[in-house]
Amino acid sequence: MTLALYILVTTLSLITLIYVIKFYSNQMAWAQYYRRNNNMPHHNLLLKYPFADKFKNQNTVNILDLGAGNGQESKYFLDMGCHVYAVDMNKMSIKLVNNKASADQKPRLNLIHSSFEKLDWDSLPDFDGVIALHALPFLSKQNLDYVWNKIQHKLKPGGIFIATLFGDKVTAVDSSEITMFHSLEEIQPLLENYKVLFAEELLSGTDDAVVHCFELILQK
Ligand SMILES: C[S@@+](CC[C@H](N)C(=O)[O-])C[C@H]1O[C@@H](n2cnc3c(N)ncnc32)[C@H](O)[C@@H]1O
Repeated sequence: MTLALYILVTTLSLITLIYVIKFYSNQMAWAQYYRRNNNMPHHNLLLKYPFADKFKNQNTVNILDLGAGNGQESKYFLDMGCHVYAVDMNKMSIKLVNNKASADQKPRLNLIHSSFEKLDWDSLPDFDGVIALHALPFLSKQNLDYVWNKIQHKLKPGGIFIATLFGDKVTAVDSSEITMFHSLEEIQPLLENYKVLFAEELLSGTDDAVVHCFELILQK
């Protein structure tokens, strides 16, 4: 994929996300989001880490997909042969993730209808990878800190954590009460216990609708 196409796809998906945030207060908003994105491929950020190489000599690979949404990231790891734990508080998401898995993949798919805050973290195995794309910013700061700690605890040493967070320069969103926005400085403490393999700040759009996002690939 050329750089221009990558930037175009990234910008379009971020604009779609900002549209969703405005309607976060009800489940119908998510239904709309799922419909719009149902045929989207998995996020390009997954291609920036060589998962297939890392896992090639491993019998069982456990992946946690937090805020699984349409299930495209869960599907990516199921196709790779991983055991996937897909968590989402929206029932429709759980259904969509299930629909994306083929019959032979279903035994490796664990669907968990729960919020991240109320998730029974102790019942989960340790993970080789945790994916949280466009999901953690919907937590309050306190809950984000709690979930961030749980993720670190549940990652195996050397495990990979891929996350996106919204930046504080976003202007197209008016739901700041329920959404966590980070400045570059606020991102730093979150990286403390990780080796940063990839970190990019994306800033695009117009004066009226700035999209601002951080993409992170971290290793415990
Ligand atoms: C913007 S979508 C992202 C979906 C997918 N990760 C993607 O990148 O396309 C956010 C998803 O996170 C889920 N979500 C948001 N806050 C959550 C929470 N506190 N606990 C569990 N799921 C949550 C929503 O239901 C939604 O499916």
